[in-house]
Amino acid sequence: NNAAEVFHRIILLILKSLPLHLRPIILLSVFNFYFISASFSMSTSSRHYTIPEEMAKGFLVGNIAHDLGLQTKRLSSGKARIYTRDSGDYIELNRDRGVLLVKERIDREALCRQTTLCALHFQIILENPMEFYTVTVQITDINDNAPTFEKSEMEFKISESAITGAKFVLERAVDLDVGINDLKSYELKPTDHFVLKVHSNADGNKNVEMVLQKPLDREKQEQISLVLTAVDGGEPQMSGTMLIVITVLDVNDNAPVFTQSTYKATVTENSPKGTVVATVTASDADQGSNSKITYSITNNLDDIAKVFEVNEENGKVTLIGNIDFEESRHYQINLRASDEGGLTDSCKLIVDVQDVNDNKPEINIMSKSNVISEDAKLNTVVTMINIEDKDSGENGKVKCFINENMPFTLKTSNTNFYSLVTDSELDRERASEYNITVTCSDEGVPSLSSSVTLTLQISDVNDNAPVFERSSYEAYIVENNTPGLSIFTVKARDADWNQNARVSYILEDSSVNGVPVSSYVSVSADSGVIHAVRSFDYEQIKDFHFRVKAQDGGSPPLSSNVTVRILIQDQNDNPPQVLYPVQTGGSLVAEMVPRSADVGYLVTKVVAVDVDSGQNAWLSYKLQKTTDRALFEVGLQNGEIRTIRQVTDKDAVKQRLAVIVEDNGQPSRSATVVVNVAVADSFPEVLSEFTDFTHDKEYIDNLTFYLVLALAVVSFLFITCLVVIISVKIYRWRQSRILYHSNLPVIPYYPPRYSDILGTGTLQHVYNYEVCMTTDSRKSDCKFGRAGSQNVLIMDPSSTGTMQRIQNEKRSEADPPMSCWYFSRKKRGESTILLQNLWIISTFLNLFSLEDIFVL
Ligand SMILES: *[C@@H]1O[C@H](CO)[C@@H](O)[C@H](O)[C@H]1NC(C)=O
Ligand SMILES: *[C@@H]1O[C@H](CO)[C@@H](O)[C@H](O)[C@H]1NC(C)=O
Repeated sequence: NNAAEVFHRIILLILKSLPLHLRPIILLSVFNFYFISASFSMSTSSRHYTIPEEMAKGFLVGNIAHDLGLQTKRLSSGKARIYTRDSGDYIELNRDRGVLLVKERIDREALCRQTTLCALHFQIILENPMEFYTVTVQITDINDNAPTFEKSEMEFKISESAITGAKFVLERAVDLDVGINDLKSYELKPTDHFVLKVHSNADGNKNVEMVLQKPLDREKQEQISLVLTAVDGGEPQMSGTMLIVITVLDVNDNAPVFTQSTYKATVTENSPKGTVVATVTASDADQGSNSKITYSITNNLDDIAKVFEVNEENGKVTLIGNIDFEESRHYQINLRASDEGGLTDSCKLIVDVQDVNDNKPEINIMSKSNVISEDAKLNTVVTMINIEDKDSGENGKVKCFINENMPFTLKTSNTNFYSLVTDSELDRERASEYNITVTCSDEGVPSLSSSVTLTLQISDVNDNAPVFERSSYEAYIVENNTPGLSIFTVKARDADWNQNARVSYILEDSSVNGVPVSSYVSVSADSGVIHAVRSFDYEQIKDFHFRVKAQDGGSPPLSSNVTVRILIQDQNDNPPQVLYPVQTGGSLVAEMVPRSADVGYLVTKVVAVDVDSGQNAWLSYKLQKTTDRALFEVGLQNGEIRTIRQVTDKDAVKQRLAVIVEDNGQPSRSATVVVNVAVADSFPEVLSEFTDFTHDKEYIDNLTFYLVLALAVVSFLFITCLVVIISVKIYRWRQSRILYHSNLPVIPYYPPRYSDILGTGTLQHVYNYEVCMTTDSRKSDCKFGRAGSQNVLIMDPSSTGTMQRIQNEKRSEADPPMSCWYFSRKKRGESTILLQNLWIISTFLNLFSLEDIFVL
């Protein structure tokens, strides 16, 4: 102990002499030295035990009595006890047994923490005499603590773009144990992406890091859980774990991707705006905003953007424009999907447009004739038509037809070309115009159609001749017309058109009674009006007919003709003519009335004719005045003058009667005849009475002379004729004899006869007698002889030239003379003049009896 004191002093002196900054080091070294030397000294004078920690109560630390060489009695008497200043009450002294026992469980870690040498220092103090012993109980470590981490879990957020080699510091584990029981190593599992790296610091601590050795991909693994295990070196080994949760943070490393590179969709044309055509979808493996996809259409050269629209967010492609199959059958929409990081993908959307029957067939007239001739041949092409339907398929198949009952048909050569041709004969006169409606319809459902109406004119061909309205015409004209008077109009119609229907009227050459008809009538070429060229005389010509030709203006012209008969109507233009008694200059004529004549005695008959006809020739007779009161009367109808009373002596011999002959025309015309009647019994008496006759003696002589002359001529002619006939007969007889012998054919000979050339007015010939006979031939039952009064000539054809005087006392009771005249006139109007002459002759014959003539 003294030595130690000395040593202390020396140390202190040294320390004092040392510079200040060296003093701690020296002090520390000294302390160590001291401590070591002290321990050595203690060990010699103290006891040292070692026990493991965590021993149970009562665990025997050491037999201190034995070790100290003390009797247990000493322990009891000395009231041995443990003295400790700071160490806890871990150890107890069992004085009886003289051993040290564990009083309380000892936790080394609690006692010494990390201090490697952990010992309990205490003294055992004895009294009587006081002694003390230093006892050191070293507590050894047992592996009773596992390494622990402060937190059971550690979270990291690491971007997936972190590069390999990136380090992440981990929390260290703590093991309360020391020494071998202390923390030994770490382990990290799994090791896919990270490896563990532990390196010691200068201060002895270990830094635990994990190092990224393989890139992270959030899209593959968004969260990685690692287990970090810390193990100690104790036996048994203990470990502690910590969960490392790594959240991989997204980086926009993925572009959006369309589900298909090409989408297909169909849409019918004319779909309404807003129709969803298709939906494109792109996905982005990234997260959050990096995966927020925006769709857009990238076409910019065409008009796609005007037709389609893509919803930015959901990729629905909708229609915003009109889709027309006929304009475009496909659309290619280029779509882009882009995320917010600017990465993109693109795809195509091919939209096929489906046809809808929305187009009418279009009818284009390629060429057309507006006019076709009515004589066009069959299959003449009238119009060429081109059909177009913009639709496709059935919607574009077109069929055309025309309205029914048309003489046309549609022919098709090629699907889209039609020609309209004639398929039956045309007739402008039946239909001059056709409205041909061409209707074309497609085969879509519902079918669409369109039509066009072609108006076709049929041009005229001169195929119709003019046609008169009637098959024949009859017209009347009153005689004595003014020349140039229009009589009548013929009218012909021509069914053709225009020039072909322009009818001209032409009078056809013919002759009427040997005179060209053109000297009778003329026809106005334009109007068909027939004009009289001359004034007609009914008494000369009663009717005539001619032909009028109607000719159209076509080329060649067509014509037709019609017979026109003109009937001339009578006018009361002729006064009655008294045939008997003949009116001469002086009234030579006298009728004898015997004084003994009875009442009703027929004195004479006034015979008058009227060359007019009908009413105009209907004559009536009246007495104008009588010399004596009511001796005679005239038959109103027949002109017979009869006595109406007995003749008396008072009655004058010479009676003069004026008879008015009136016709029935309007106005009526009349003639007056004076009839001298001699009321006497003998001719001389008469002569004496008719003194005024004498001055006519010379006239009568002359007349007689002429009569004789005429008779001589007639007789001469008659004899000449007879001679000629006889000689001809003889000649022929002789000739026939010769012919008989020579067998030559017999040529019959007909004697010349006078033909009935009567119409032209050359009537003052004697041979008219014969004609008169033919007039009163058997055709007419009106015998002249019966018609006349007492003096009638009958000429028998068989007795040519023989004249007989027949005193016809009997009145004809059958036909009134008027009707007879009328009838005969109707047949032979021309004979009137002849008859007139006959009457003249007969008057002479009446005046002079046949005997007188022969005497003469
Ligand atoms: C044709 O049509 C026109 C005009 O629509 C009409 O005036 C004419 O009468 C028609 N013709 C026929 C023959 O239907
Ligand atoms: C008149 O017409 C008839 C038919 O109606 C014809 O036979 C005749 O030849 C025509 N005459 C003339 C002169 O054209």
